[in-house]
Formats: sequence, C-alpha cells, structure tokens
Amino acid sequence: MSTTKADERNADQIAYWNGAGGRHWASRQEHQDIVLAPILTAALARAAIRPGERVVDIGCGCGASAIALGRLVAPAGRVLGLDVSGPMLARAAERLPPELPVELVQGDATTYAFAPGNFDLLFSRFGVMFFAEPARSFANLRRALRPGGRLAFACWRAPRENPWMMLPLQAAYEHVPRLPQLGPEDPGPFSFADPARLERILGQAGFTAIALEPFDLALDIATGKGLDAAVNAALEIGATSRAIDGQPPAVLAAVAQSIRKALAPHQQGGGVPLAGAVWLVTASGGE
Ligand SMILES: C[S@@+](CC[C@H](N)C(=O)[O-])C[C@H]1O[C@@H](n2cnc3c(N)ncnc32)[C@H](O)[C@@H]1O
Repeated sequence: MSTTKADERNADQIAYWNGAGGRHWASRQEHQDIVLAPILTAALARAAIRPGERVVDIGCGCGASAIALGRLVAPAGRVLGLDVSGPMLARAAERLPPELPVELVQGDATTYAFAPGNFDLLFSRFGVMFFAEPARSFANLRRALRPGGRLAFACWRAPRENPWMMLPLQAAYEHVPRLPQLGPEDPGPFSFADPARLERILGQAGFTAIALEPFDLALDIATGKGLDAAVNAALEIGATSRAIDGQPPAVLAAVAQSIRKALAPHQQGGGVPLAGAVWLVTASGGE
C-alpha cells in the first residue's frame, strides 16, 4: 500500500479486493477485458483525452484502462493507476508495456495523498462505486485536478437493467441464500445506479457540470466461446460468485445447472448476449 493510511470504513472492500474478488478478477482478466471493452471505448471517447495529459485511473484493477490511457497520453503524458487490490495490480504490472508512461500504485482513493492540482483528468471504468464515504473520496480525488480538470467514469445503472449480472444471480438463488440486502448508501457495484444520489455526491465533492449519459449494450459473457464459458463467467465474477462463496461441490453443481438453464434461451451461436446498462459520467473539477 502507499504510505497514506486507507480509510478504515473501506476495510471490508479492501479485504474483498485483496481476497476472493481480486483473485477472481486477476485470473479472468482477459475474459473480463473482452466483455467490458465496449464500455472502456465509450468512456474513453467521453473523456476526450489529448496526448501529454496527466491522468489518474481510479480503481485501475488489472490494467486495461491504464494501458489504454497510457497509449493515448504517451509519450509526454502520465497515468497514475491507483488501486487497493494487490492481486489485480500484480496482474496489471505483468502486462504493462514498459515503454508506456504508467505508474501503478497500491492505495485507497479516499485518502491517497495526491500532489494537489497535478492532473488533467480523473478516469475510471467501474472503480469508483466501492467507497464507504464517496463524497469524501471524490473530494480527495478532485484535489488532484488542476483548475478546469475533468472527471469521466463508467458505473452500472440499476440491477433490473443489468440482466447480464442478475439473471445468473437469480438462478443461483434457487440453491443458496440471498446476499444481504444493501442499503441505499452502501458501497457495491450498483451504488451509483440512482442518478440523484450520484449527482448529490459529486456536487458535495465540489464537481460542476455533472452529466450522466445512459449507455446500453449487449454484454456477451461467453466471449463467443459458448454456453459453458458463459456459465463459468457467471460463477466466477460479480454478485453470483459472492453468493456461492464457500458452498459445497454438490450445491455448486446445482447452481451451475440452473444458470445453464437460465442462460440457454439467450445463446446465439457461440455468444450469450445479455443486456447491460451503464452511466457514462462526466464533470468538471479542480480548485
Ligand atoms: C469492478 S473492479 C474494476 C476494475 C477495473 N477498473 C476494470 O474495469 O477492469 C473495481 C476496482 O476498484 C478497486 N477499488 C475498490 N475500492 C477502492 C478504493 N477505495 N481505492 C482504489 N481502488 C479501489 C478494486 O480493487 C477493483 O480493482
């Protein structure tokens, strides 16, 4: 971790992303990057990045966005890829082309001691929804921006609009207990689904010109490799993997069977496309 102490209220998330969550994402990095590639492309387009810019990639995970950003700002620019997850940063470091101006740092975005006013852009693909006190985290991030700096990130809209995650989860619930119900202010993948909450948090953190653009797409969780690949993906990533964590083999087999049955009607050739719904968020910041 960086020398700055992490926010204690983020301890559960930090444990998860350094435990099962981080390990699963690291081992499935190639698959995840194919599934989520259209969202990275869309978010990068909204960020309007220019060569030479200095960018923070918040929750950079296994490095897909940090590498893409590095290519866009090279050679004179700089990317700081910040993440709490040791296993995911290790995967990012393995695949980072050495010629890119990307620095990977393990630290908590809520407390990380940025040099003030040093960055042009704060960017993230799905790395900003896990803060216990998001207004505090975003205020800390905003201090890293120069006057007139910008924010651009992608986050999920409501669960009901994201069957790619909810369909397998509902099938899993035929065999395992439901995950604890999250409160409206709790961190999690859907914590920014409510546009009013998201605008309030960014406003409290001092951002202006906040814009939320809905972005709808079909996510092929099979990556063209058929129904078995889709079932494996559903079992290993996201809410379903949390719900089945620690279950015995017989239960896991029954869950896999139910997920297969639920996904089968959506198969098209090798693909299993399911609807996904994202906010592409942009704002202005800087002191
Ligand atoms: C859903 S993953 C997305 C990873 C990556 N951005 C991608 O799109 O592949 C969420 C990421 O946010 C990171 N994260 C969660 N809380 C964080 C915090 N407080 N500070 C920095 N990173 C955090 C996690 O470790 C994880 O890498």
